[in-house]
Amino acid sequence: MAGENERVCVTGAGGFAASWIVKLLLSNNYIVHGTIRQPGDSKYDHLDKLEKASENLKLFKADLLDYESLCLAISGCTGVFHVASPVPFPTTITDPEVQLLEPAVKGTLNVLKACLEAKVKRVVVVSSIAAVVMNPNWPKDQVKDESCWSDPEYVRSTKTWYYLSKTQAEAAALEFGRSNGLEVVTVCPSLILGPLLQSTMNTSSWLLPMCFKDGFEKISFKYWTLVDARDLAEALLLVYKKSEAGERYICTAHAIGLEEVVDKYLKISHPNYNYSQKLTHTEEEEEKLSSEKLERLGWSYRPLGETLIDSIESYRKIGVLD
Ligand SMILES: NC(=O)c1ccc[n+]([C@@H]2O[C@H](COP(=O)([O-])OP(=O)(O)OC[C@H]3O[C@@H](n4cnc5c(N)ncnc54)[C@H](OP(=O)(O)O)[C@@H]3O)[C@@H](O)[C@H]2O)c1
Repeated sequence: MAGENERVCVTGAGGFAASWIVKLLLSNNYIVHGTIRQPGDSKYDHLDKLEKASENLKLFKADLLDYESLCLAISGCTGVFHVASPVPFPTTITDPEVQLLEPAVKGTLNVLKACLEAKVKRVVVVSSIAAVVMNPNWPKDQVKDESCWSDPEYVRSTKTWYYLSKTQAEAAALEFGRSNGLEVVTVCPSLILGPLLQSTMNTSSWLLPMCFKDGFEKISFKYWTLVDARDLAEALLLVYKKSEAGERYICTAHAIGLEEVVDKYLKISHPNYNYSQKLTHTEEEEEKLSSEKLERLGWSYRPLGETLIDSIESYRKIGVLD
């Protein structure tokens, strides 16, 4: 059976995207070491309820800035899915170096060093399209592919610290792989939506509820490129098994203006909310991204309606829409 007896580690196992990867790996008979920062916290309860968790999931207390704790979690694993990285609300960032850059960049290097020490064969690093799209020199009408990188100096000048953290962390990861002979593959997802496995909201999942709660004006980007967390999990396992080392993959499924999200989907599934009449996006905000490289490896994705409806249903279940 696929994955039988193979031991892999997932960093930040309790997070939104990582929980789906843990679930997929367990269902494919992998033995999973998951890192979490606060063992005993109820925010990880969903992990114990995953199918095969009681036999095949082992949780380790580890922080990205605590090298020894990572070594203990990664020891004995042949593969690592490095998912953990801070994803704060932009308004809560007061010290970008401490809150974002250090855990993202130094944390990623700590994970990779621990992988080298443990003789891990392959590491899949979750980056972001934040590391792809902020490139003012890219021709305006040209679709962005994996050869496009956000320009760190430009990103720094705009103070979009999360973007900087992902750009620097991904570049450092690929460089570390090249210079140390470690197989590193990076995956750059767009906005991740989809149902929650955990019972608390993560940052990106707030975007849809904000549409119901008169929060449109606060949503800073009104054109979304997005992917379902379940399809992202499939993509991560696919590149783990099939990619060449040192490759980079954009992982995005749909591109849509917020007005279309509301008119075509939300107003139909939830007609009774008081939607803003003034919804539009500008052409400037439109992002042309390609996941063709990932699709050539065999990746496919579900329809947008399924992602939106399943997401909303899961927010309703945890009481966020009340
Ligand atoms: N959500 C999106 O739209 C989106 C889009 C593109 C890429 N990504 C990337 O996808 C990954 C997962 O994002 P997510 O949305 O699933 O976020 P999330 O739910 O907030 O999960 C982030 C995880 O990172 C862990 N973490 C943060 N700082 C850490 C540290 N210093 N040491 C150890 N663990 C730490 C957290 O662990 P604890 O809970 O144990 O504290 C948490 O499990 C991130 O790398 C993010 O950059 C996200």
